[in-house]
Amino acid sequence: MVEHVSVETMSRLDLVIFGATGFTGKKVVEKLARGGESYDTLSWGVAGRSQRKLEKMVADVSKLTGKDLSHIRILVADTGDNKSLKQMCAQAKVLINCCGPYRLYGEPVVRAAIDAKTHYVDVSGEPLFMETMQLVYDGQAREAGVYVISACGFDSIPNDMGVVFLQQKWEGTLNSVESYMETYLSPDFKNKGSKTSVLNSGTWESLIYGFSDQLKLLSLRKQLFPEKMLKFEPELQLRGPLHKHNKDWYVPFLGADKFVVYRTQHRSYFDGERPVQFEVYYKTRSLLNTLLFAIAAAFLFVMSMVSITRNLVINYPSFFSAGMFTKEGPSEEVINNCHFRVELVGKGWEKGVDTKRTPMNKTMVARISGVNPGYGATVLGVLHSALTILWEQHKMPKGGVLTTGAAFSNTTLIEQLHKNGFKFEIVK
Ligand SMILES: NC(=O)c1ccc[n+]([C@@H]2O[C@H](COP(=O)([O-])OP(=O)(O)OC[C@H]3O[C@@H](n4cnc5c(N)ncnc54)[C@H](OP(=O)(O)O)[C@@H]3O)[C@@H](O)[C@H]2O)c1
Repeated sequence: MVEHVSVETMSRLDLVIFGATGFTGKKVVEKLARGGESYDTLSWGVAGRSQRKLEKMVADVSKLTGKDLSHIRILVADTGDNKSLKQMCAQAKVLINCCGPYRLYGEPVVRAAIDAKTHYVDVSGEPLFMETMQLVYDGQAREAGVYVISACGFDSIPNDMGVVFLQQKWEGTLNSVESYMETYLSPDFKNKGSKTSVLNSGTWESLIYGFSDQLKLLSLRKQLFPEKMLKFEPELQLRGPLHKHNKDWYVPFLGADKFVVYRTQHRSYFDGERPVQFEVYYKTRSLLNTLLFAIAAAFLFVMSMVSITRNLVINYPSFFSAGMFTKEGPSEEVINNCHFRVELVGKGWEKGVDTKRTPMNKTMVARISGVNPGYGATVLGVLHSALTILWEQHKMPKGGVLTTGAAFSNTTLIEQLHKNGFKFEIVK
């Protein structure tokens, strides 16, 4: 039987996973249930909007992992019911929010977390949500001494913490970083001709809403960044729509990473440091592929502008994504054969060089890699971000709505991720 206790009598758990019945939330629960060095001493609970679904999920995970989860606290909370959200938050030291799309469901959860003085992490990759939270809640979060940290998953830890990693290893002045991202299925696996849905429909929904957010972002950024950063020379230029790097073709990556890294660097600039300029690209398999992708993106962009067509696209993920996103999510076989590699090419100067008079004379390449970006790296990222808040707050800023780079640059997060298979290496 699961534990049901009245809120007033309960002490705070280390972690509560909200949205635990969803595809990503359940993977976080599975990881915690399997246990291991970092997880065995933790107290944790699960939360969602349906008691019945939560009980079933806990029973399923217990069966899958062979672990007794009868002591796990179950909390019912709905994003439409502020009281339930506050009661849930009041029972956690850190809330892991896996309930998305965040632009629809995230804000009341952030508000409740700040109210209850509970730290908050999530796996959002939605700039509109993240930047709105920073604009509206940063002051309140700082005042309450609460951390609100988004993009702790594959969006955007490899790039945001990757730039931090290069900065830590760099002796001298780092001027710019160009990131080259790649995700791929093991070659042997592709030959079996299995189904290749790689992501769940929750991410599809967030992505489609992301298309329709573009115009709102322009005005939001004017408010969020009223003071522009000075331009540093040499200025990093965005490369063309298609360019070659190490024999492969790359296109500009349209995800959240560039903006997350920008927020990290913007903050450090106003703390008196030289910011790192950043661009990010994604590997494309062929010219034809790029062309088809561009046509599909333009089509989805148009469809996402009006609610009727947007809902149609959201309700039929498999059809509109050519099978990449499905309502039942990818199989274990697929996600365990999916890999990622992110190469960050840093350019700048050796230590002691006059950066105004000397051309850049130093290059360093960092590689961030691993298996299962969507549900392996993402789960590790968000769990270890939460653990870092629990254990290393003394190395973090005092609170606020922060990026991972701003929050964790002085902690051991990179080391912890590396130990768990989310590799960070200097390769050149
Ligand atoms: N950064 C990354 O790389 C990364 C990777 C994976 C996922 N994500 C993001 O994570 C989010 C979740 O994705 P997913 O695939 O796990 O989605 P999902 O399977 O649809 O799960 C969504 C969860 O939210 C819950 N929920 C929905 N409305 C709610 C409400 N009103 N009150 C309380 N709970 C509610 C659902 O509960 P029910 O079960 O009761 O419906 C479910 O638990 C998405 O935004 C996705 O983009 C990011």
